[in-house]
Order: sequence, then C-alpha cells, then structure tokens
Amino acid sequence: MPRRGEVQVVVVGSANFDVVVKAARLPQEGESLLASNLKFFPGGKGANQAVGAARLGAKITFIGSVGQDVIGDFLMQGLEANSIDTTWVKRDPQRSTGTAFIMLFPNGNNCITVDPGANMSLTPADVERAETLIAKADALSTVLEVPPEVVEAALRLARKAGKLTVLDAGPPRNCPTEILKLADIVSPNETELASLTGEEVSGHVSAREAAGKLLELGVKTVVLKLGSDGSMLVTGKTSKHFPACRVNVVDPTAAGDAFTAALTVQLASGAKIETAIRYANQAGALAVTKLGAQPSLPTHEEVEAFAARLAKNL
Ligand code: RIB
Repeated sequence: MPRRGEVQVVVVGSANFDVVVKAARLPQEGESLLASNLKFFPGGKGANQAVGAARLGAKITFIGSVGQDVIGDFLMQGLEANSIDTTWVKRDPQRSTGTAFIMLFPNGNNCITVDPGANMSLTPADVERAETLIAKADALSTVLEVPPEVVEAALRLARKAGKLTVLDAGPPRNCPTEILKLADIVSPNETELASLTGEEVSGHVSAREAAGKLLELGVKTVVLKLGSDGSMLVTGKTSKHFPACRVNVVDPTAAGDAFTAALTVQLASGAKIETAIRYANQAGALAVTKLGAQPSLPTHEEVEAFAARLAKNL
C-alpha cells in the first residue's frame, strides 16, 4: 500500500464557478428578494474532491471539462494552485463553464442550483484516453455531476485495472444499477440515497433500510453522509453509525466533497474503513467552518490538529 503522500488518485467529475449569497430565506416564485455578501468561489463536486484530496496529501489528476472562458481560466488556476494535474481537463468553446448559484441561510443550511454547462461536454472517450494513467493510480473517484456514461466509463476502467473505485452519489440523481455496482464504495447523503432508491430517507432506520436496498442491488459498501448527524457505514455484514464532530457552522457547501476526498485518500493508503470514516468525518466537519467550497477544504495537518483537539475534548 502506498503511504499517504504517495497515493495517486484520479478524480473524474465536475468543476463549477460558485456564486454565493446570504439570504434570509428562499424567495417565492415571482418574488425579488434582497440578499447580501456576494462572493465567488471555485467549486463543483468533482473539483472540490480533487482539491480536498490534494490538500490531504495525495497526488491528483483531474479529468473534467470547463468552458473556454475567463471563469474556466479561474477554475484551472485554482486546480493548478493545488498542484493538481490538469492535462486531462477539456476546454469547451461552445458551452460556458458550469456555474452553481448558492444561497446560505441563517440556520446554516444552503440551497444550490447548478447550470452544469461545459461539464456535460465530458465524454467516455475523454476518460478512455487516460486509461494508462488510471491503471497507474491507486484509486479513482467520481460524481454524478457529469454525464452517467462518463461515470460508467471511469469506474469501468478503474475496476478493470483493479483500483479502488469510489462514487460520490451527488447531486441527487437516479443512477443505473450497473454503474453503482462498479463502485467499491457508494457514498450518498440522505437526499441522494432517496433518489437512488426511491425510498423516503429520514433518520437512521430509514437510511439503513434504503442503504440495504442498494446492497440488494449488488453494491458492496455504502458510506452514508448524514450531515450534522455524522455518517453511517452499511455493508452486508455490518451497519455502524459514526457521530458528527461538533463545530461552528459557517457554510455547509462542499462538506460532503471533503468527506469523500478524505475517505478515498485514507482507503487508498491502506486505512481500515472505520478509521477512514472517522477521518472523513473530521475533514467534513472542518469544511463547514469556513465560507466557500474549495477555500474550506482542510489540509491533512489541519485534520490531525483537529483530531488531537477532539481527543483532548477541547
Ligand atoms: O458539493 C458542493 C458543490 O455542489 C458546490 O461547489 C457547487 O458547485 C455544486 O456543484
């Protein structure tokens, strides 16, 4: 098994420009509502995972697509500033860079509307071109914010090469069983689990039951992200809840991406699944303490320092 600093992960997924405002509530249809604190951040579930994993010490190659526009330039610079190999990122002259419109509410929740734009230009051929790279990596992680056939091609190639495959099942989407089964780990949040299974998910019992449905379909390991309630591991043999770490919530955006990135890096460096989930819980918790998607993703040193504080009950 490679050591943490030597772990190589290929992330296949989305990159978005996040336009963030604070609002008192959701506007009603036809209503203009004043918001405040407009900010712009690099985001996108795939790119967030790539940056998250890089900050945790892994060597990352990102396969994605952004527009041939200034926003695309901005996202590329952000990836490169985190030492991510962007050789395989496509620039689409026809479609704008994916953009997410994010509202943050006083209760600490958010809501997100995404125009995927150039993310939808990514094709299986773009991934297949990187077959040799995938065969050399330790793990591949991907998300449902790019076309499903791309997710399938990525997981299939990594599986063929015997690599760890992780599917972050966000955003909420139906996903063919054949694709889900290609992932060693499927990691949805409650809403995403509901979309995957058609079940209502609220609380541990229904979450465990819905995760059980994924197992019946042939998925081997489900790692559920339960937000402020922590996470849950569900396999054919066991089901275990991992409580959340208490933190001051500033912005929940990208907490799930930080979690998946941490889980992937830990598992790829040989950690046991329970250890990996505890670490991922800590990375996810730290991500909610800062504003913005990628600016909030913690480094390995920050996670270690946080874990030490938790151990001392500080
Ligand atoms: O998971 C958070 C991400 O979802 C944001 O960065 C936004 O771009 C959306 O894709």
